[in-house]
Amino acid sequence: MSKVTVKDMDVKGKHVIVRVDFNVPHKNGVITDDNRVRAALPTINYLTEHGAKVILLSHLGKVKTEEDKVKNDMSIVADCLAALQSAPVKFVNATRGPELEEAVKNEKEGEIILMQNTRYEPGESKNDPELGKYWASLADLFVEDAFGSVHRAHASTVGIPSNIPGCVGFLVEKEVEVLGGALNDPKRPFVAILGGAKVSDKIGVIENLLKIADKVLIGGGMAYTFSVAKGGKIGTSLLEEDKVDLAKEFLAKGEGKLFLPVDTVVANDFDNPTDTKVVEAGEIPDGYMGLDIGPKTIELFRNELAGAKTVFWNGPMGVFEKPEFAVGTEEVCKTLAGLEDATTIIGGGDSASAAKNLGFADKFSHISTGGGASLEYMEGKELPGVAIIPEK
Ligand code: 3PG
Repeated sequence: MSKVTVKDMDVKGKHVIVRVDFNVPHKNGVITDDNRVRAALPTINYLTEHGAKVILLSHLGKVKTEEDKVKNDMSIVADCLAALQSAPVKFVNATRGPELEEAVKNEKEGEIILMQNTRYEPGESKNDPELGKYWASLADLFVEDAFGSVHRAHASTVGIPSNIPGCVGFLVEKEVEVLGGALNDPKRPFVAILGGAKVSDKIGVIENLLKIADKVLIGGGMAYTFSVAKGGKIGTSLLEEDKVDLAKEFLAKGEGKLFLPVDTVVANDFDNPTDTKVVEAGEIPDGYMGLDIGPKTIELFRNELAGAKTVFWNGPMGVFEKPEFAVGTEEVCKTLAGLEDATTIIGGGDSASAAKNLGFADKFSHISTGGGASLEYMEGKELPGVAIIPEK
C-alpha cells in the first residue's frame, strides 16, 4: 500500500491515538458480535508490543439524546477488549477534560486507554476543528484503523490527523488492499452480486460496478423496482416508484451483463405468512409480496457465478432473518464457498451478518468490517479517513 502504515512509525514511548471502529451490535449491555473488536487487535497488539501508549477512540451508535448516551456507553467494549488481549485497559468515562488528560499523563508504555464514545461530543460528526485539535493535543501520532468509519469526515477520523502525523493501521491496510484489488485490478471473470431492500442505497455501486464487473446479479428487495421497470407486476412487494426510471437506465446500460431474478418466493403477509409460493418474476399476484429469490434464480445465479475469479457481494437476496426466506441468501453463500481459486469478498453490513448467521463466516476470502465504507469505496468514491493519511 502506498499510504504510510503503522510499521513506518517509531511508536516507542509515544502516545498514539488509534481511531478504531468499535461500533458493535449490543443488546442490554451485552455485545452480540465482537468481530470489530477482534479485527482491531493486530494494530493494538503491534502498538503495545512496540512500547506505545495507546489511546483508543471510537463511536458507538448514533447519539442525539441523553438516552442515546446511556444506551451507547463505550464501557461495555472495555471489558470485551480486556478479555481479548493481555495489555491493561483503562476505560475513561470522559471525552475531554481533567479525567482524560490525567489518565493520558499517567499512562505507561504498553498500556491502553479506551475513551468514552466520541459521539458524546456534538462536534465529532461536524468535524469541529477545535475538537480535532484538542484530541490531537493528547498524542504524538495517529493511526487510522476504523475502516467502518473512514467514509465519515469526522473530528476523530479526519480532524485529528489534520493536526498530528498519521498512518493507517493493519485493518485499513488490508481492507483497502482487498477491495482496491477487486476495483482496480480484478482477476476475471469479476461478478458482483447486489441485493438489499433499496435501489436508492445502491445507485452509486450499481453504476460503478456495471462499468467494472463482467456481470452484475441483482437480488433482494430492490429487484422488484427493476421488475416494475420491465413492466412486471409485483403485488405488495417493496417498490421505490421514484427509482423506476433509473432502473430502466441501468437495464439499458447493463444489457448483457445485468441479471435479474427470474422467479420469486412470495407470501401473503410479511409478519404472519400463511400462504407462501413460488411465482415467475413480474407475475406476483395482488396481495402477495416477494420475500426471496426463487429456485430458478438460484440456478441462474449459480451458473453465472461458475468460473468467477473475483466476486463482490453486498446485500442479502431476501428476508434472511426469517428461515423460510433465507434460502436464496444461503444458496449464494454456498455457491461462493464452493468457487475454486476465486477471491470472494463480502462488503459488510447485512450480507456479512447473513454469511455469519448462516455459518459461512470462514468460507470467504474477506468479509469487510465496513458496511457504508465498503460500498462507498466500491462506488469509486474517495474515503476521507484514508485520503487524509499521507502517501509514503
Ligand atoms: C458502521 O457501522 O457502518 C460504521 O460504524 C459507521 O457507523 P455510522 O453509519 O453510524 O457512521
